Amino acid sequence: MSEGAPPDTDAQVADDVATAETLPARTFTERRWLERELGSVFARSWQLVPERAADDDPRPLAEQLAARGARVPVTLGGRPLYLQRGWDDDQLRLFPNTCTHAWYPLVLGPSRGPTLVCGQHGRRFDCAGRFVSQPGFQGAPAFPRDCDHLRAMPAAVWRQLVLAALDPAAPPLADVLAPIDASLVHFPDTLIRVASGGEVRDVAGNWKQHAWNFLDPFHIAFVHRAPGGLADAVDLATYTTELFEHAVLQWVYARDPADGFDPAMLPERFADRQGRGRRVFALWWFLYPNLALNFYPWGLSVNVYQPLPDRPDMTRFGWYHWVLDPTRHAERDRRWLSAQVDAEDVDALAQVSRGLRSGFAPRGRFAPGDEQAAHWLHRKVSRDVLAT
Ligand code: FES
Ligand SMILES: [Fe+2]
Repeated sequence: MSEGAPPDTDAQVADDVATAETLPARTFTERRWLERELGSVFARSWQLVPERAADDDPRPLAEQLAARGARVPVTLGGRPLYLQRGWDDDQLRLFPNTCTHAWYPLVLGPSRGPTLVCGQHGRRFDCAGRFVSQPGFQGAPAFPRDCDHLRAMPAAVWRQLVLAALDPAAPPLADVLAPIDASLVHFPDTLIRVASGGEVRDVAGNWKQHAWNFLDPFHIAFVHRAPGGLADAVDLATYTTELFEHAVLQWVYARDPADGFDPAMLPERFADRQGRGRRVFALWWFLYPNLALNFYPWGLSVNVYQPLPDRPDMTRFGWYHWVLDPTRHAERDRRWLSAQVDAEDVDALAQVSRGLRSGFAPRGRFAPGDEQAAHWLHRKVSRDVLAT
């Protein structure tokens, strides 16, 4: 904590949603707090590795990394990294894209091979990140040291998405994804990535504002109000929030069954028990801390809210589509109000961002019935940051 900063007691979030206060405004505006989040919340959680720009290579990242020895440079939390498929094994690993000799970047573009050679002084590494050789170091005493090898971090492909964690102490990915997988047992695994322009935007507002907004059904009746808004397209009285350790599911029945899932695509527990033929509009999954996986009858819309180092007031907003049914995907703005909801949210969050910096209303409260998921997010961030 820097000199003169308020004590961290103001950033504790109580366990009971009925009495808890939100994270204070300063945690959405301070650079120092963002740095602490990057070292705790973001280091020890699974992150979506964003797809590369379509004009670099239109293939999904997972496909670019499928071949033995394939490697691709990526950035996570502003840090230079690269993904590497094993040569002697099929393992996908994440490595720092920084040479252990003198910090030159190791991977400048996609490449492939059993070893990689640093472009500055020729240090060679294998696909498991081990130092292999370097001119001038033959016979050097006490060499190589442990830190001359590259530090391997976990990475995996899940349903064609590439996920990675900067700290091996991140919870096991299978545990994190278990409740999501359970909801998708009948969901076809044949999604096709449809790349488009405008998938990555820098938008106003701290990353937590965007994650919070995603987890907030309370605003739907106001920001996405009827007539013509999301509040019209769904039966808000059936809105359901399910909290898990690392994830949250929100789902609701569609007002018009034509906008809903074929019941055969979802587990029995989502069936309309009143026998009124209502169908689920979407499964809105959130994976802590910043990934939204929106499953619709047309496929999957992925949102990732990436913090920008030194810019707590901005978020790099990634939005990627994976399509199951192209006809229904083409109807996403009419039936699922995709563009309209996005525009309404971006506008609302820009307004909130101004309010956060005003110095007024230092902490809010949660509506106990409507804001359990928001409380879940604030509490987890508070705990993760304050534990470090
Ligand atoms: S910086 Fe890589 S070999 Fe010198
Ligand atoms: Fe919204």
